[in-house]
Parts: sequence; C-alpha cells; structure tokens
Amino acid sequence: MIVLGIETSCDETATAVCRDGVIISSHIRSQSIHEKYGGVIPEIASREHEKFLNEMVFDTLNDGGISKKELEGIAVTQGPGLSGTLITGVCFAKGLALGLGLPIIGVNHLEAHIFANFLADPALEFPFICLLVSGGHTQLWHVKNFKDYQLMGETRDDAAGEAFDKGARILGLSYPGGPEIEKMAKGGNPNAIQFPRAMMKKNNLEFSFSGLKTSLLYYMDEHKNANLKDVAASYQLAIIDVLITKLKWGLENTHCQTCVIAGGVAANLLLRDCSLNKLSGKKVIFPDLDLCTDNAAMIAYLGELYLSKGIKSAIDFPILPNMKMA
Ligand code: KG4
Ligand code: ZN
Repeated sequence: MIVLGIETSCDETATAVCRDGVIISSHIRSQSIHEKYGGVIPEIASREHEKFLNEMVFDTLNDGGISKKELEGIAVTQGPGLSGTLITGVCFAKGLALGLGLPIIGVNHLEAHIFANFLADPALEFPFICLLVSGGHTQLWHVKNFKDYQLMGETRDDAAGEAFDKGARILGLSYPGGPEIEKMAKGGNPNAIQFPRAMMKKNNLEFSFSGLKTSLLYYMDEHKNANLKDVAASYQLAIIDVLITKLKWGLENTHCQTCVIAGGVAANLLLRDCSLNKLSGKKVIFPDLDLCTDNAAMIAYLGELYLSKGIKSAIDFPILPNMKMA
C-alpha cells in the first residue's frame, strides 16, 4: 500500500511516503523562525505550515517517484499538538483525500513516535517497554501488542524535553534547548554539580522535572561566573540519570527483554550511550536521529499499518490537541 503522511503537530512541517512498510521519501522543514522567541509561537507555526505544505507534498511525491494517482491513502497527525497547527495539517489532508477519493486516517503522534522504532528495526517484536520523551511528554509505556498499550508512569509536571528547553533558556541558550545543552555539555564535568533527581524511590515510575529546573535557576543566581560547560553537563546528566533508572525499573517489573526510546529527547547521545551501557543484557532500540524528532515518516508508517487493516477515519474527524494513547 502507498500512503502519504503529513505531520504538523508543532513546528516541523513534514511529509513522507511509505510503501509496504518502507519509507521511500521523507521531507522535514523545521521552522527556525521561532528561535528568536525562545519557544514556538502557535499562530506563526500554523501560517508556516500553510505556506509550505503544498510544495512539500509535491516534492515528496516527486522524490519518491510517486504520482498522486498512485497514492492509496493519507495519514495525518490528529493529535496531540497545538490546535492551530493540527488544523492546518488535517484540513490540508482532508482536502487532498476528498479530491483524490482516498481513505484518510488520523494518527496519534505519540503512537507514531513509538512505531518509528519499527523503522529503526523491522525485526522489533511485541512486547516491549517504550520510554517516550518529547517536548510535551515523558511517559513509560508497556507496549504489549498493536493497540494494546499500558501507561506505567509519566511526568507530574514538566516533560524531559521541556526541562532541556527551559534549562537552555536559563543558561541563555537558544530553542530547542536539548541540542544546545548537549553541545554546551561537551567537555564539561557531569559530576561538578549535584542537581536533584526527583521521585527516585525504588520502582516509582512517575517523573518530575520542575524542581530540577528551579534548582538550576537558583544555582545560576548564586554562581554568576559558573562554568557553563560543567553546569550543562551536570544538568543533562541529572535528566538522563532519572530516565535510565526508570526505564531499568520498567524493564525489571515487566520482565520485558526489549526497550525502545522514542521522541525528540531520544536524539540525545548521552541518553543513547547510557541506555546501551546501563541496560546490559536487554535489547535497546532507538530510531535514527531524524526519526526521533518530529517527522512524517512515522505518521505514514503507522497510517499505512492502520489503513492496511481496514481501519480509517470518517472524513469529519476532529483534531484532538490532548489526544491520549490508551
Ligand atoms: O518529539 P519532538 O521533536 O517534538 C514533540 O513532540 O515535542 O521533541 C522535541 C523535544 C524538544 O524539547 C527538544 O529540546 C528535545 O526534544 N530534543 C533534545 C535533543 N534533540 C531534541 N533533547 C535532548 N537532547 C537532544 N539532542
Ligand atoms: Zn513529537
């Protein structure tokens, strides 16, 4: 089956084509316009999607050597995400589906992040544990089977990506903060400052990062000449330490042998290294870097999976900015 995927949940405009579980073309346009504001401005993000979607779909089909007539379905992010940006993508996708007479499926962005791991390793098998770490979510899932997911724990306040973004802002770095902190941390001493790790009582699978961010704020207030490399490295380690510890407990509690890491923070190299070093004996999978952050390949892939099972959305399906997975 040949499916076009469209992703506009936040500030990446992305389009991709999936054919029989293989991505044959994928384009991502990150909206750098938000950098100067230190965060995403929803109204601007929606307008940017609107401006570029048509051309990107055209280019993506061209690159894949696929004509509009060959498409067999459209998959688009239904939620969670910003309402304005979701509406832009969903309305565009609905117009295309109506015009071409194709079935359409509204895809859950979080579920798609998890399924990006099947693109990383087609041999991946259920059940597995997924640490889902993005700008808006930090969740630990027991993925038992297709459409059978159990939430084991999630953040009570800030998401891990948010902790990176807010931390970067405190350190005077730009948005998105994850890659900036990672860059700044290079060569720094991760043990220079003992930032707090919250909710670390054995087998507590909930997360909390707001105290960590506050503690960074106080530290910077009290140490005007702090070594930024050491601060960034220590702050990064505090986040990664917690994520890896909870992932380990999640694996132990379920006796799962495989875990996957999904979402934008999965691009973090320290997280990737620690998951390989500290979860010995377990199979650890994470997507390629461009499949960790927002992309349409994961939307097209999961959309194709649904459509090929005969599952589709009604043409009047709504956007769901707070869409849940289970
Ligand atoms: O999944 P994603 O692209 O968008 C959401 O669905 O939220 O995740 C974006 C988040 C941002 O908070 C960004 O700072 C973080 O992922 N991120 C990283 C890295 N690259 C992106 N965090 C840590 N290290 C990175 N290398
Ligand atoms: Zn995402």
